[in-house]
Amino acid sequence: MTVERIHTPTEMRARAEAWRCAGKRIAFVPTMGYLHEGHVSLLDEGRRRGDILALSIFVNPTQFGPKEDLSRYPRDLDGDLAKAAAAGVDVAYVPEAAAMYPDGYQSYVTVEKLQDGLCGASRPGHFRGVATVVLKLFNAVQPHVALFGMKDYQQLQVIRRMARDLDLGVEVVGMPIVREADGLAKSSRNAYLSPDERLRALALSRALVSARESFEMGERDAARLVDSARATLHLTPGVRLDYLELRDAASLEPLHGRVVGPAVMAVAAFVGTTRLIDNQLFEP
Ligand code: PAJ
Repeated sequence: MTVERIHTPTEMRARAEAWRCAGKRIAFVPTMGYLHEGHVSLLDEGRRRGDILALSIFVNPTQFGPKEDLSRYPRDLDGDLAKAAAAGVDVAYVPEAAAMYPDGYQSYVTVEKLQDGLCGASRPGHFRGVATVVLKLFNAVQPHVALFGMKDYQQLQVIRRMARDLDLGVEVVGMPIVREADGLAKSSRNAYLSPDERLRALALSRALVSARESFEMGERDAARLVDSARATLHLTPGVRLDYLELRDAASLEPLHGRVVGPAVMAVAAFVGTTRLIDNQLFEP
């Protein structure tokens, strides 16, 4: 079975309007492709929640910094379409960059406070690019519900906020992080890792597990939870920490003192030249 492909915003929107007129509920999973089980978990949930399941594959240039990996981002459209078919995707929206950002393009969405700090600090402009492309994709696909992974926790909060603030009328659903058997969070960027780096990359999930264990033993002091994770991370040579922070799970405000409400510990680190992220929720 092959999945139908749509290449332009106009064509996508016309199709979406026809589905809506027919009373269909549209579930949507936006991705940059190179699909793995994390993406597939979103597709599976989308299949349960919608009559129509739409997937987008678009490596969005506006969310990459000038020194980032846009040109070498892994791609495998045929493999992706096979996985999409197996997951019951009805339509794959695969726009070209020129159709998304035509000459003269100059409109962007900024979600102000949530984009500060964490990945926003080390990737200036990243969340502006993400919010903008997701709004454009929503406008084309017209989904009732859209599924995002908690792997990109700050991204999920930015999109939730945008959907609420701009009255998009899209239900934003966050899905749990899918991991490899040894704990590494699945990511398209794991493809960059050499076998040696792949082992070192476990430092991220191990750091979060050690903080979770402290938390489960009753530790509620934010600084001590962060320290226990940092100590674990620093045990692995060849891993350069970008940030490791504990923040309020909803507002993403920094946490100090005792953890009394839901919190997220988020980490980003370079393993070789590959930047990886992971996070863990703490619910007292
Ligand atoms: P991408 O990195 O391809 O991820 C697409 C979706 O899959 C995101 O919602 C992401 O959080 C989710 N995902 C990735 N790895 C996951 C894992 N291990 N477990 C669960 N979900 C996982 O995120 C993007 O693309 C882009 O920024 C995008 C939203 C498409 C805008 O360009």
